[in-house]
Amino acid sequence: MKQKVLVTGGVGYIGSHTVVELQNEGYDVVIVDNLSNSVISVLDGITKITGIRPEFEQFDLCDSVKTTNFFQKHKEIAVVIHFAAFKAVGESVQKPLMYYQNNLISLMNILENMKRQQIQNLVFSSSCTVYGQPDELPVTEKAPIKKANSPYGNTKQISEEIIYDLICSDDNLKAIALRYFNPIGAHESALIGELPIGTPNNLVPYITQTAIGKRKELSVFGNDYHTPDGSCIRDYINVVDLAKAHVVALKRLLAKKTKQNFETFNLGTGIGVSVLEIVNTFEKSTGQKVNYKIVGRRDGDVEKVWSDSKYANDELGWKTERSLEETLLSAWNWEKQYNSKKNE
Ligand code: UFG
Repeated sequence: MKQKVLVTGGVGYIGSHTVVELQNEGYDVVIVDNLSNSVISVLDGITKITGIRPEFEQFDLCDSVKTTNFFQKHKEIAVVIHFAAFKAVGESVQKPLMYYQNNLISLMNILENMKRQQIQNLVFSSSCTVYGQPDELPVTEKAPIKKANSPYGNTKQISEEIIYDLICSDDNLKAIALRYFNPIGAHESALIGELPIGTPNNLVPYITQTAIGKRKELSVFGNDYHTPDGSCIRDYINVVDLAKAHVVALKRLLAKKTKQNFETFNLGTGIGVSVLEIVNTFEKSTGQKVNYKIVGRRDGDVEKVWSDSKYANDELGWKTERSLEETLLSAWNWEKQYNSKKNE
């Protein structure tokens, strides 16, 4: 019998790419998403790629009654992959309560119901923002968790603590927190990709929308950081590579191969790239010009962070496979495809 996986936020960016990989591996998927930062047509893209339309329920996981009703109806769920959350660093500085309420209440509702229904396996969507500005780079999972630079980062720190505390109280529950660095790019089919609603918060969708003429120019947030070209450095990871790591983590949980009941893994490429290098590489890979101007720093940004993902490479047998060039090209192909479809 096929095993059933609940993917919260499965219509969103990383969620949708993960649903594709799960369905390709033969898992039954049910998605819960409130469509607060995603559009329902993403399900058509998933269906075209995999030949299977995932089950979908639209509601807000902060609604405890709806969440409980959902879990009572879907008793056969074997694993929960929890993506649904707000994710913009800068916005979280402006609207901290919105971030704490949304990201923490939904998590607690899910955990309460997992416990009630004896669902034992959780893959949690965490982030390198849990490290704050690390003292040593590349950052490993053993690095001390310093004060987060943003309320968003703090919600990820607190979420990991909540999960850890629950696991300590219940031997049956196991979780893997995947600490992503910066996911970018799109599925190679260009049928799904990053689809921000309104003005993009993240760098690459802002670049692709500028290149296609939807935005006048990219604002580069700061060129006075202590980095070679003065702009911030991140570790940009291909979203399909990232999605595949979720399937590996899920299999590890189902095979009961975890070494501790709560495990954390960094998922990155190990390579730090600056904002200006991303702009240049995008221009080279796609042949498209990106207009940009330098503006002031954005609140909440750390200066530089990149991963040591050796533990994930060794322990999960997972590694990134797609280059930065092909990843940026995939983001561009997705932008073009999405706009041509809209203009039909
Ligand atoms: N940036 C710009 N201009 C923009 C947007 C971003 O210069 O219009 C810069 C930012 O200042 C930062 C870099 O590009 O230096 C990357 O910014 P993103 O907003 O794309 O990504 P963040 O690093 O802020 O955050 C992202 C995700 C988080 C995740 C984090 C992990 O949004 O959910 O990566 O590093 F936790």
